[in-house]
Amino acid sequence: MRDKPVLRDKKESLWRPLGDVATAGVTLKNPILTASGTAGHGAELAPYFALSSLGAVVVKSLYPTSWPGNPAPRVHNTPSGMLNAVGLQGPGVDAWVKHDLEALRAVDATVVASIWGRTIDDYATAARQLVASHASLVAVEVNLSCPNLEGRAGIFAHDADLSAQVIRVVVDELGSCGVPVWAKLSPNTDRVLQVVEAVEKAGATAVTLINTLLGMQLDISTRKASLGNGGGGLSGRAIHPVAVRTIYDVRQAFPEIPIVGVGGVASGSDVIEMMMAGASLVQVGTATFADPRAPQKILHEASRLMRGLGASRWGDVLNAAH
Ligand SMILES: Cc1cc2nc3c(=O)[nH]c(=O)nc-3n(C[C@H](O)[C@H](O)[C@H](O)COP(=O)(O)O)c2cc1C
Repeated sequence: MRDKPVLRDKKESLWRPLGDVATAGVTLKNPILTASGTAGHGAELAPYFALSSLGAVVVKSLYPTSWPGNPAPRVHNTPSGMLNAVGLQGPGVDAWVKHDLEALRAVDATVVASIWGRTIDDYATAARQLVASHASLVAVEVNLSCPNLEGRAGIFAHDADLSAQVIRVVVDELGSCGVPVWAKLSPNTDRVLQVVEAVEKAGATAVTLINTLLGMQLDISTRKASLGNGGGGLSGRAIHPVAVRTIYDVRQAFPEIPIVGVGGVASGSDVIEMMMAGASLVQVGTATFADPRAPQKILHEASRLMRGLGASRWGDVLNAAH
């Protein structure tokens, strides 16, 4: 683990880049990324700001074929976050490569693809399709918070063995092109540390922490769930402390594994907090629904704050809480 940085009290208001970040098998121009499922499949945010200014765009998780998702309503606001049950709607890997990836390349975005599956073979197929399409990607994030159809619909990410099997097949498929694999884990289990250990052994270059928390809202007039699917996933401000705690605990147990932090990031201070807990890259998700420019604004705010703390590189605050 790095030595604790010395943080000086220094006022600095202008946003200036703090240099590249080399971590999790990638070298990015800064540590701010979009979170999967909150920035569209392709270049949807391009009208709001230059997507090329972010470290990377992580796109919505892709299944091998098109997938219809869940019935509406798919999102519901709560007092301190958002419930969603979009159900992983998507065009499928091949159509995404043809249309959405093209659009992202046209605006010079750095792209991380995300894949999901209902069986281990689905994940392998999606990875194989990405390789066959010669997609230009810096990393592949594997969304493990999905029900496993072959195992009574238990969630892959709640089972260390299953998670490792998925990561192993994806790493095998992607092996020929050397693209790093990030395992995106669920906070809805007390086995996070075991899962991290298993996916790292299986070849994951980094872990992305965290996906949404299980949640539900009932409409008392209809006595039914507000979301078409019934239950959903809670994201946004409410889950930020859960994300920080998960990142902190994983960093305590695993001093070296690169962590991509995500969960309720809405300010530059949230970014630095996550980095101090152990995340070397940070994704912005639900904040983007309130303001589509949020990822860029948060990048600038974090950069200003870093300068104010006397840091000259992003890595200066990494793991500072340990
Ligand atoms: C509407 C919506 C759709 C999402 N879709 C995906 C997805 O396709 N794949 C995935 O790995 N995570 C997905 N997520 C989870 C986010 O990437 C992120 O892990 C989570 O929302 C916590 O971050 P946040 O609080 O900043 O939104 C989705 C979240 C939301 C709100």
